[in-house]
Amino acid sequence: MQHDGLGATAPLAPFVLPDPARLALPDGAVQVWRLDDTQVDPACTRLAHTLAPDERARALAYRHARHRDGFIARRGLLRWLIGGYLRCRPEALCLTVSPFGKPVLQWPQTGLAFSVSRTDGLALLAFARDCRLGVDVERRGGGPDMAELPGFGRGIFSAQEAQALAHARPASADALLSIWTRKEALLKALGTGLSVDAGAYTTEDDWRRGAGHWRASRDGIPMSGWTLLDLDAGADAGAGARFRAALAVSLPDASVTWHSC
Ligand SMILES: CC(C)(COP(=O)(O)OP(=O)(O)OC[C@H]1O[C@@H](n2cnc3c(N)ncnc32)[C@H](O)[C@@H]1OP(=O)(O)O)[C@@H](O)C(=O)NCCC(=O)NCCS
Repeated sequence: MQHDGLGATAPLAPFVLPDPARLALPDGAVQVWRLDDTQVDPACTRLAHTLAPDERARALAYRHARHRDGFIARRGLLRWLIGGYLRCRPEALCLTVSPFGKPVLQWPQTGLAFSVSRTDGLALLAFARDCRLGVDVERRGGGPDMAELPGFGRGIFSAQEAQALAHARPASADALLSIWTRKEALLKALGTGLSVDAGAYTTEDDWRRGAGHWRASRDGIPMSGWTLLDLDAGADAGAGARFRAALAVSLPDASVTWHSC
């Protein structure tokens, strides 16, 4: 996806790992950590040694150094934060992958839920206890409106969502990203990703709960007991592009806080 100001150099963000002894995740809280692309290099340097052999092999399989380093930084920070919340060494964690690609914590087995998402410029890592949790972030680019491409989103959007997109035309890029991030967050929380019949789920604004809240249903049946939110993930300072993000958590009134290194 193209974006405005491509080639502009973002100022280097500082990177200070949080003290693991001070990390705390209360019940009902969701903590969302930001990792800017400008923090990838120092994160790699500090955290690469914590990755397991299969994670290193996956990192080496990336064709581009940028993608390889991004994965190492994300996975290293994921290990660091889980280790801090659970009071164990990051390199001692055993992470496997579900048949749908979801990372699963095999050891230690606890109620810690987490979700990771990345886009060009930013990664988000979300954590909560005893729930299902999904996060998604996308970059709001200045490129073509994908909603205008014939067939785009077929099988992904429900009929109701497709109608909402049609109403938003011709400026449907924002509506598209909103539905897209919400749906990915929800399906990541459910652990399936887009491998299921994503069109069976509908996401829509929930004005009763206030701006930024949304609700979800499956085959017309409301999903209750969830906190579903759009997140303001800010902008890419160097390139001037904004990020769209969404969070889905199976807790009724979760409180969400932002954190960064
Ligand atoms: C989950 C999915 C929607 C993510 O899409 P994306 O926009 O390309 O990627 P994002 O940056 O938002 O998320 C990537 C992260 O999602 C997580 N993830 C991957 N699959 C997941 C799933 N099924 N459920 C929850 N989280 C998942 C991983 O942590 C990954 O981060 P990592 O690359 O650092 O490990 C997409 O990969 C998908 O639909 N996967 C399911 C399809 C499937 O069955 N694949 C088989 C793979 S073995």
